[in-house]
Amino acid sequence: MTQYAYFRGRVVPIDEANISVRTQAIHYGTSCFGALRGYWNEDQEQLYVFRPHDHYRRFLDSAKLLMMTLPFHPDDLVEVTRILLQKEGWREDVYIRPLAYKSGEVIPCQLHDVEDEFALFSLPYGSYLNKDKGARLMISSWCRLGDNTIPPRGKIGGAYASSALAKSDALLKGFDEALLLDGEGHVAEGSAENVFILRQGIAVTPSVSSSILEGITRRTVIELLTRALGIPVQERAVDRTEIYLADEAFLCGTGAQIVPVTSVDSYDIGSGTAGAITMKLRDLYSDVVRGAVTEYTSWCLPIYA
Ligand SMILES: Cc1ncc(COP(=O)(O)O)c(C=O)c1O
Repeated sequence: MTQYAYFRGRVVPIDEANISVRTQAIHYGTSCFGALRGYWNEDQEQLYVFRPHDHYRRFLDSAKLLMMTLPFHPDDLVEVTRILLQKEGWREDVYIRPLAYKSGEVIPCQLHDVEDEFALFSLPYGSYLNKDKGARLMISSWCRLGDNTIPPRGKIGGAYASSALAKSDALLKGFDEALLLDGEGHVAEGSAENVFILRQGIAVTPSVSSSILEGITRRTVIELLTRALGIPVQERAVDRTEIYLADEAFLCGTGAQIVPVTSVDSYDIGSGTAGAITMKLRDLYSDVVRGAVTEYTSWCLPIYA
């Protein structure tokens, strides 16, 4: 199946979407990206993109932090996504990657007076962590970047060198994922996921000023926990030992979806197996993203007519 990209204002075969080695973004990490998913609903023969407007609003915020002047409104980016996916005609789950980067071929490390470009591509995609039964986490010795270093609120390319340091360190030590603390020692997030704990019937997640990405899945989970499952959610600073003592914990993100956490460092979470509320939430989430829950179909954009 031919794959395409939206590149320099046109849909082109993916092999034609190439950039120069002199591109500033490759050298200095001056890019930002998004990560969306398209879910194939076999019964309806439909591909649903989950919360595309919310993803593109955040994408354009990231671009703004990098002083990019992209000539797009979220609606334009949703339309480009629809055009690309219709051309590709996927009948399976896909990952969608919008990318904006400083395309100027220049040496100075600065944001202003450097041209920007936008590109978009998609590819078939399954699970990111592949840990359905639960992930074993370690608290990383790498700290999450702060708002005054590379703001985690933006999905900025250069910041992912930090995620990669933490992730490789965790994997090479035999864990499944890293959990990073913020500069003040509070829990921030995973290398590419937000985190929630459940303790005594209350869900708790680090607040948006705890050096986290303002995750779309995090926002979805807050809604599903409070409205659909009747579980109160607190957004606040979270201590590391609160995770050790949690009854349940899970990671969430577009790539990871909902992944139960079964241990952190040497501590089992709850009984050391996936928690009951986490599993209920995971099942609900998986129905919601495929457009199978009437109340939430407005989050799912159908791609095919
Ligand atoms: C660092 C980080 N945190 C959290 C998330 C989850 O964000 P979302 O739910 O919008 O995918 C991601 C996703 O890519 C991420 O990279």
